[in-house]
Amino acid sequence: MSVYGKPDYWSLQAKTEGYPARSVYKLQEMDARFGLFSGASKASGGPVKVLDLGAAPGSWSLYARRHGAQGRFILGVDISPLSPHCSGELFAGEGYGFLQGDMTAAETRTAILAHAPFHLVLSDAAPGTSGNPGIDTLRSLVLAEAALEYADLVLHKGGHFVVKVFQGGEAPRLLKAIRERFKTGRSFKPRACRRTSFETYYLGLGKKQALPAALRQAASFTRAPPDTHRGC
Ligand SMILES: C[S@@+](CC[C@H](N)C(=O)[O-])C[C@H]1O[C@@H](n2cnc3c(N)ncnc32)[C@H](O)[C@@H]1O
Repeated sequence: MSVYGKPDYWSLQAKTEGYPARSVYKLQEMDARFGLFSGASKASGGPVKVLDLGAAPGSWSLYARRHGAQGRFILGVDISPLSPHCSGELFAGEGYGFLQGDMTAAETRTAILAHAPFHLVLSDAAPGTSGNPGIDTLRSLVLAEAALEYADLVLHKGGHFVVKVFQGGEAPRLLKAIRERFKTGRSFKPRACRRTSFETYYLGLGKKQALPAALRQAASFTRAPPDTHRGC
């Protein structure tokens, strides 16, 4: 919706295409420009696994489902439930799992690790805004740093990473950390971001480090993902 309460171009487009949120067009633009999903396929050489942090109401997960190669598995994680409007399509077949929980909590981390490794890590997670830019930026940074930790832990070498961050404060420090870990690290503000919003995205393209040893070993076995909450 626009600031005037009327649906804007992107909201109307999302409705037409059956996405629960306009944010899908931010991912679509970044994918078109940086080849996120084709990069994940390259890093995999086979079935692709995607971790979608801050997944609710479900548009990014739905985009990943719709634009995926055969055999893709997507794990969505969010404190909030998915939109019931997308659950039918998301959970059709075997390619989707959803964990409802706080991505910064130890038990959520354990559950995510049980599904690792991944070829693409996305985080559109954002705190509820308080109206105080200092507090909101700090809270956003906590989530973005947690997402980068997941990339360290579960992302394959050569994989890509996308994270939403509110500009300001210590955010540039996060970009520096991304540049140390990926061949390319950059910020990008998609056209679908609201002009008044201080959000932007940081991208890490081509992870330099291999997976931690324990995960490398686990990845060498072909296994079905453990049971995951399937409901919305
Ligand atoms: C902008 S929305 C994501 C939109 C989503 N990418 C889509 O396209 O439908 C931000 C999400 O971050 C989630 N979030 C905020 N803090 C979180 C946390 N600590 N753990 C997990 N999810 C969180 C919120 O519940 C919210 O659903």
